[in-house]
Amino acid sequence: METHELQIAIEQMHERWKGATAGEVATYIPELGRADPDKFGITLATTNGHIYQSGDSDLPFTIQSISKPFTFGLALEAFGAKRVAQHVGVEPSGDAFNAIELQNGSNRPHNPMINSGAITVTALLHEKYGNETFDMILERFSLAAGRPLSMDRAVYESEYRTGHRNRAIAHLLLNFGMVHDAAEEALDVYFKQCSILVTCRDLAVMGATLANMGMNPITRAQAFDLATVKCMMAIMFTCGMYDYSGEWAYRVGVPAKSGVSGGVMAVVNRQLGIATYSARLDPRGNSHRGIEVCAELANSFGLHAFDCLNMGSSFLDTLL
Ligand code: DON
Repeated sequence: METHELQIAIEQMHERWKGATAGEVATYIPELGRADPDKFGITLATTNGHIYQSGDSDLPFTIQSISKPFTFGLALEAFGAKRVAQHVGVEPSGDAFNAIELQNGSNRPHNPMINSGAITVTALLHEKYGNETFDMILERFSLAAGRPLSMDRAVYESEYRTGHRNRAIAHLLLNFGMVHDAAEEALDVYFKQCSILVTCRDLAVMGATLANMGMNPITRAQAFDLATVKCMMAIMFTCGMYDYSGEWAYRVGVPAKSGVSGGVMAVVNRQLGIATYSARLDPRGNSHRGIEVCAELANSFGLHAFDCLNMGSSFLDTLL
């Protein structure tokens, strides 16, 4: 059988970028500093259920901020857009992911993709689900990934012990009434959600689940409501890559989310989930090789939302 065009492309990209050494492994959560900076994986999952992998695509790492669009979706489902909007905005902040700031006037975090917004979202979930919150999150993430996920206890404990900045953010949110009184408990759930272990393959399938309108294209399980998926993708498009979000939209042009452990998940609507792993981060906390590989994929296959070569869902047919 002929090797698929997408498989050839990601193998070539892996080869081209595997020697790149730009960027630094995150160490502000001490346990993350143990990551091997040379590990590098790329996985694509299509909405018609095919998987293409190269490099270290089955290596587990913690999901970190890539959890944020998913918990945002869960909050929208649980509370509706109006209630969620009272607690968190949808405007890019242009500031670092861990900035200690709230919107002027409303005192809401700018958006749910930065730490302050994501902690607020998890606190909302905690208000409703209490002690069950983390299990509920894990169950829904597992549905999206198509296998039972688990948490890395060492990373969780490391962040729990050293997350003073996030603790300060949680208390600032409490001061302004953006989170309920159990802010510490909610923060604990946030640390746990960031410590969920995934592989590139899991993230690609989670991305393909979003691309496939909330239905996991392999198990056919509906992980997220259709209406929610639109909101998750929109917020990833405008805010998913932190203070690189504008440049990313310009250059790559698809909804995406990065995490400090080195993952990037990108979604090509109705077509593909893309996932990369490489722990060497640029100064904004995005994976250096992850950005470059996604940009190359977007260019090579016309994936940018506004690319004149973007053929929408018929793209997959042209490759079969
Ligand atoms: O809250 C934190 O700092 C981490 N648990 C997650 C941050 C993150 O992934 C930012 N990513 N670039």
